[in-house]
Amino acid sequence: MNIAKTLREFRSLREQLPSPVGFVPTMGYLHDGHLSLARMAREDGASVVASIFVNPTQFAPTEDLDAYPRDLKRDLELLEAEGTDLVLTPETNDEFYPAGYDTWVDVAGITRVLEGASRPTHFRGVATVVAKLFNVVQPDRAYFGQKDAQQALVIRQLIRDLNFPIELVLGPTIREDDGLAMSSRNAYLSAEQRTAAPVLRRSLDRVEALYEGGERRGNVLRDAMQELIDTEPLATIDYVSVANLETLEEADVLEGKALVSLAVRFGKTRLIDNTILPRGASLI
Ligand code: PAJ
Repeated sequence: MNIAKTLREFRSLREQLPSPVGFVPTMGYLHDGHLSLARMAREDGASVVASIFVNPTQFAPTEDLDAYPRDLKRDLELLEAEGTDLVLTPETNDEFYPAGYDTWVDVAGITRVLEGASRPTHFRGVATVVAKLFNVVQPDRAYFGQKDAQQALVIRQLIRDLNFPIELVLGPTIREDDGLAMSSRNAYLSAEQRTAAPVLRRSLDRVEALYEGGERRGNVLRDAMQELIDTEPLATIDYVSVANLETLEEADVLEGKALVSLAVRFGKTRLIDNTILPRGASLI
């Protein structure tokens, strides 16, 4: 496995990789969710490129950029064990954002709601860094997780609108045994918060069960999620949503596919999770 710490180094190593190239962008502190994407890329028969870069522009000044967990040595070992060919891990933010950097990619519409409403500059940072990574890596396929469903929809729009010749491939959300979606941010949870956090998956289960029992009213489904999460005193809801999958507008009465999603705080740690209705339907 080759490791590139500068874009210059990366470009010369990238030239030597056989096609097709599969790309897994990450912010590191890897878990099985990330690694499942590298595994998918490998199984698809591609050369596998991963990036590890805690992208400062997708964090608001009040967020956890400096505290974001890091363990580069372990990440590289894990990627190597999955058969990754090349890792881009810029040593400084200057590689991507040198002094005077001032170009931004703004995907409109769908970034204004849900995560975008709570974190107004977040998707601008994500779309910008992903466009830059696509330009540098030039992959044939890019692998993203359904865990960040809205992000995946933003990337689909970005690929279409900016004519990237890249196939978007999504991987399912990988969970702990008790249902908690794997996330680098789970490392912040205290023991009590960790015990409480599976309430998120349970609230999604409840919505799935109601839906399968015939319930189609958006407000009834949202209330059911909220009610269950409210039984957990350590949980503070940021939002619960049942939205049309195409527009991400809150659904009055569900027709077609819906994205059921939530963001909940445990202390300072903000966790997200989601499911698609009907159960098992694909996000894209
Ligand atoms: P990060 O949070 O590190 O996630 C990298 C990729 O792993 C994303 O596509 C995310 O959806 C996926 N992922 C995270 N947890 C997962 C889980 N439990 N199961 C399956 N996939 C999971 O998302 C980002 O980084 C950044 O925004 C990035 C795209 C790298 C741009 O900076």
